[in-house]
Amino acid sequence: MPEPDAAARAHSDRVRAHVAEVIAREGGWITLARYMDEVLYAPGLGYYVAGARKFGADGDFVTAPELTPLYGATLAGPIAAILDASEQREIVELGAGSGALAASLIAALAADGVAVARYRIVEVSPELKARQQAALADVAVPVEWCTALPDGIDGAIVLNEVLDAVPPHVVVRRAGAWFERGVGLATDDASRDAFRAAAEGAGASQGAPSGSGSALRLADRPLADAALRALAEERFPPDIDYESEVNPAAEALVATLARSLVRGAIVIADYGFPRPEYYHAQRATGTLVGHYRHRVHADPLLWPGLTDLTAHVDFTAMAEAGCAAGLPVAGYTSQAAFLVAAGLLDRLAREGPPTAVAYLRAAGAVQRLLSPAEMGELFKILVLARDDGIVWRYFAGVDRSHRL
Ligand SMILES: C[S@@+](CC[C@H](N)C(=O)[O-])C[C@H]1O[C@@H](n2cnc3c(N)ncnc32)[C@H](O)[C@@H]1O
Repeated sequence: MPEPDAAARAHSDRVRAHVAEVIAREGGWITLARYMDEVLYAPGLGYYVAGARKFGADGDFVTAPELTPLYGATLAGPIAAILDASEQREIVELGAGSGALAASLIAALAADGVAVARYRIVEVSPELKARQQAALADVAVPVEWCTALPDGIDGAIVLNEVLDAVPPHVVVRRAGAWFERGVGLATDDASRDAFRAAAEGAGASQGAPSGSGSALRLADRPLADAALRALAEERFPPDIDYESEVNPAAEALVATLARSLVRGAIVIADYGFPRPEYYHAQRATGTLVGHYRHRVHADPLLWPGLTDLTAHVDFTAMAEAGCAAGLPVAGYTSQAAFLVAAGLLDRLAREGPPTAVAYLRAAGAVQRLLSPAEMGELFKILVLARDDGIVWRYFAGVDRSHRL
């Protein structure tokens, strides 16, 4: 694992001290969902709201729109169909990252002669908003930013790798008893001293806790939340010791979006599984991981504020949340199947002759998007729509809604 530099360690120590303060205020323990919320989104501190570079080669991970503009361009077909089924012809994107998806989508829609009335981005990060403004400075469509979900959306809502960044609860069943995983303060003297030094503002000084677990520790408590327990009891495989995530916040987000959609559809692209695979007996330790400088690790306490924390998406739960809010499933399939049906390979062919450098570069990215060993199979596309006729042709022959 590459070591952070001094400035990054100092930032991580500030984030850890902030979390420790929250834990102390909350009586000595917070859920892992609350911890993740703090380390990702605490104003001025969290991974997604403070300044470090996240996406791309010199960041922590690469997302599909960052790999190649052909990804966003390929989504232009289905998005155009959704816009045609709306009256206001607007696109709302949540968590737009560097703005790469918006830029490639808007460019392809313009090239295809598809009218877009406006593009709204829901963004919690001031730093990412500034990057998006720079990336989208010259686009022909009016772009607006907001920090809260808009109401009365009439068009397409796009969530690319957003739901995996919504903090889940981690529920544990051990020897028939139920627990929730959380974070407490380390109690041994050395860690307490280190924590005190950090909390007193020692920052990156030698006494401050740097690295995993010196002031914070993972701790399971008996599961107090009856609603969470009911969800876990329903979803976990019976009898065996098991731990996994349950994500009511992601379900609530999808339900809210579904209710606010007047006409059109929600397009969800993310990594995850339908429920029988998500809560498979062999996946007995869940899916929560950290991403740090293109390494995946399993320690949620490692470098808080510098590490992205993420869990796979239970697509059955998202489909159920949409349906319960009155927005049915129009289609669900793998990223590879959807992108091929939406014309990714035709768009690749337009990059030039197969020996051209532009073609070869794009082909490498397309291979990552489609390969079952890379993103093609793990990533899924779920579309919830007012009328499933809108996008049905993109799912014809490849729809897997029956597996949800
Ligand atoms: C892994 S990044 C993906 C960024 C971008 N969509 C991409 O694909 O490159 C996850 C993003 O989702 C955003 N996010 C998480 N929860 C959100 C919410 N409730 N509303 C809007 N954005 C959210 C995060 O702030 C973060 O920018």
